[in-house]
Amino acid sequence: MRKASYLHILLLPALLLLFLEIPGPVLYPKRLYPADTLPPASHLPTDYPPLAPLTRVIAPDHPILPGVSIVACCMNRHETLRTVLARWRAVANVSEIIVVDWSSNPPLRDVVEHVADGDPRVRLIRVDGEDQWILSRAYNLAVRATSFDKILRTDCDYSIGNQFVQVHDLTDHRDDPILRQSALNPHHPDAALTAAARKLASPKFYAGNYQHARNENEIHLNGAVYIKRADFLRIGGYDERIQTYGWDDEDLYGRLVEAGLQKQDINYDHVSHVPHGDTSRAQKDVKFVQVEIDLNSLLLKHLPKWNSSAVDFHEWQLSDYAPHTDSYAVLTAVTKPRSLKDLVAPANIKSAWNMALGQRLANDYQVPWDIMETMDVASKRSLLVRLNQRMEHRAPSQPARILFAHCMHGLGNRLRALGSAMSFANQTDRELVIIWETDAHIAANFTDLFSDNLVVVTHFKPTWPFLGYDKWDKAWLNFEFFNYMEMEGQGAIKGQQIVDKPDKHFYFKSAYVMEADAQLTNWDKDNDMLKSLTPVSEVTEMIKQHENKGLERMVGIHIRDRTLDRDIKNVNFGTEYGDAASKEMEYWRRKSSYKTFMVEMHEMLKRDPSLRFYVATDTMDVIPKLETEFPGKIVSTSRNCDDRDGHCVRFALVDIICLSRTKELIGSNWSSFTEAASRMGGKKPRLAGQDFAVDASRSV
Ligand SMILES: *[C@@H]1O[C@H](CO)[C@@H](O)[C@H](O)[C@H]1NC(C)=O
Ligand SMILES: *[C@@H]1O[C@H](CO)[C@@H](O)[C@H](O)[C@H]1NC(C)=O
Ligand SMILES: *[C@@H]1O[C@H](CO)[C@@H](O)[C@H](O)[C@H]1NC(C)=O
Ligand SMILES: *[C@@H]1O[C@H](CO)[C@@H](O)[C@H](O)[C@H]1NC(C)=O
Ligand SMILES: *[C@@H]1O[C@H](CO)[C@@H](O)[C@H](O)[C@H]1NC(C)=O
Repeated sequence: MRKASYLHILLLPALLLLFLEIPGPVLYPKRLYPADTLPPASHLPTDYPPLAPLTRVIAPDHPILPGVSIVACCMNRHETLRTVLARWRAVANVSEIIVVDWSSNPPLRDVVEHVADGDPRVRLIRVDGEDQWILSRAYNLAVRATSFDKILRTDCDYSIGNQFVQVHDLTDHRDDPILRQSALNPHHPDAALTAAARKLASPKFYAGNYQHARNENEIHLNGAVYIKRADFLRIGGYDERIQTYGWDDEDLYGRLVEAGLQKQDINYDHVSHVPHGDTSRAQKDVKFVQVEIDLNSLLLKHLPKWNSSAVDFHEWQLSDYAPHTDSYAVLTAVTKPRSLKDLVAPANIKSAWNMALGQRLANDYQVPWDIMETMDVASKRSLLVRLNQRMEHRAPSQPARILFAHCMHGLGNRLRALGSAMSFANQTDRELVIIWETDAHIAANFTDLFSDNLVVVTHFKPTWPFLGYDKWDKAWLNFEFFNYMEMEGQGAIKGQQIVDKPDKHFYFKSAYVMEADAQLTNWDKDNDMLKSLTPVSEVTEMIKQHENKGLERMVGIHIRDRTLDRDIKNVNFGTEYGDAASKEMEYWRRKSSYKTFMVEMHEMLKRDPSLRFYVATDTMDVIPKLETEFPGKIVSTSRNCDDRDGHCVRFALVDIICLSRTKELIGSNWSSFTEAASRMGGKKPRLAGQDFAVDASRSV
């Protein structure tokens, strides 16, 4: 059934007759015969087998002739093609130039015919109906359409030197019986001779090699190939399952080498890349493009190797052609091969994506695999895109760096650590990765609170002080670590001075602001950063309701009424904060009992009886007591859950932002919650026991 497999062109029988009438000498007498199956010319019967009604248009029917065919497939880039096609025509020893126009808009016909200027060697195959560039299918079509035994495959933005063919010698001695014998004889006494013979006898091909690129432009030459037509087709050409950018060329070269060909480097003195409008954009994206290359390479591992019998010979329909010059044909694919993404199981695609992104983050930016393990695909992708964007203004030798900000304790603490980290990252040209884990202090994810598209790690596996991690992942050597949670010991120092080291990632674990140069983090800058965050819509909706009730004319009251023993379940304050700090905290909490605030509120009402209060408190029981004491004066955000739990943390955020938007803030000392409201609002709070009710505090 071999022949049947070639029957991939639908052709109207009437058209065949026209082809047969073509007078010679025409380069491509279209007998529409699978030329690769033909015996050598000398053995060819004088009368060819009759044509099948369904047969292909693109393979020549005569035996392949000695000579060189240039093949190029283009989607758009009309101006570049205008330049390079003229140069291709000038290359010595070229018998044919096949241009495949892959659904360019407008079609390339005008450009090609204008530049070809009647040159009979130039043939254009127009492919209609393709909405995206697919290199593998385009070039396989182009190569099958050639009539000469050597193929020079070029991109539509490569210029080729006149002497290319003379300089790259494809001659081999694969048919020399003596060489073959010594090459294949494993018992030959002279191993060196056997190796030399094998080399002489083995076929070769030339290809671009990005590792040998001498400049940015030469990086683009990787796709150039000079090869014997039969060698290309024997392995099925490009893998047509690869239908997105990347790995098509390396995959081809790999299979050619596996098939016994020697890969040689194309001499870059004889081919060059012509820069064009897309080039600079393409270079900026070059690192992300690398992910797509890696992805295709990983996906291919799930499938059998492409081979000539695997070629999913899809059918083409011929809709137009130029019978007398044979220089033009229009095809449309009737069937298309399935792509990697259709063939590989979704779970495998997902893990390949994950791996491809991880490889770039690890290789290009030294991000430890341990940290990435718990990052989802979307976060990795977004981190990579951002790091790549930073490279636009950085030297390639200075990979962009990250500040990993591990925010600790309750919402107020986390926000101040975060604001400070945001400033520091902004000022030191670092990408920010937020480590925001749910714990006894706060059971909400960052994304439950803020809708900003930031990179957030929700689960951080490595454990302080990361001892020995660098033994198996050198990425850890590119770090400076700062842990302000001094109770963790092992080098954790609260308030440790932080000095920027531009070539290092920073890991900062804290419930406090960074201690660093005031240029890098300070009260105003940190707070501007916090204010730039966008709360989730549920939060902004609740705030809006209070604003409609005149929030900006109210006085904000934050009452920290709980003593430590009634505070956070599952948190042992002695262990987490230290005994001295816990005692201090307890002292100030006793000062900020709701009764202290009531006294102050009565005072304020005496001065201005129209006042209303927005009250936030850690003890919701306080609210009814205040409402009884101050009828019609108390505004609060009602809830029926503990602020530290899951989505209920949103109420705490509503409280912080509402407090920050009142005209005056009365708060509790030693409370990062009051502090957060003050940071968000840019005003200094008056604190219980310090700025009012000082006498009462003495009596406690
Ligand atoms: C190329 O063509 C020149 C004449 O134009 C000829 O002398 C030379 O042998 C040819 N070289 C090859 C490799 O075909
Ligand atoms: C060629 O590919 C087909 C389809 O993937 C596969 O079934 C076949 O085993 C392959 N042949 C060789 C020789 O590898
Ligand atoms: C710092 O933040 C400002 C304001 O958001 C922004 O315009 C600037 O690009 C940032 N700088 C860096 C180095 O990220
Ligand atoms: C937080 O995010 C993680 C990871 O996306 C998820 O497993 C967890 O259920 C989330 N927690 C809450 C409280 O939504
Ligand atoms: C609490 O009050 C003390 C004594 O007035 C003061 O030194 C300290 O800075 C205050 N703490 C906070 C967090 O405001």
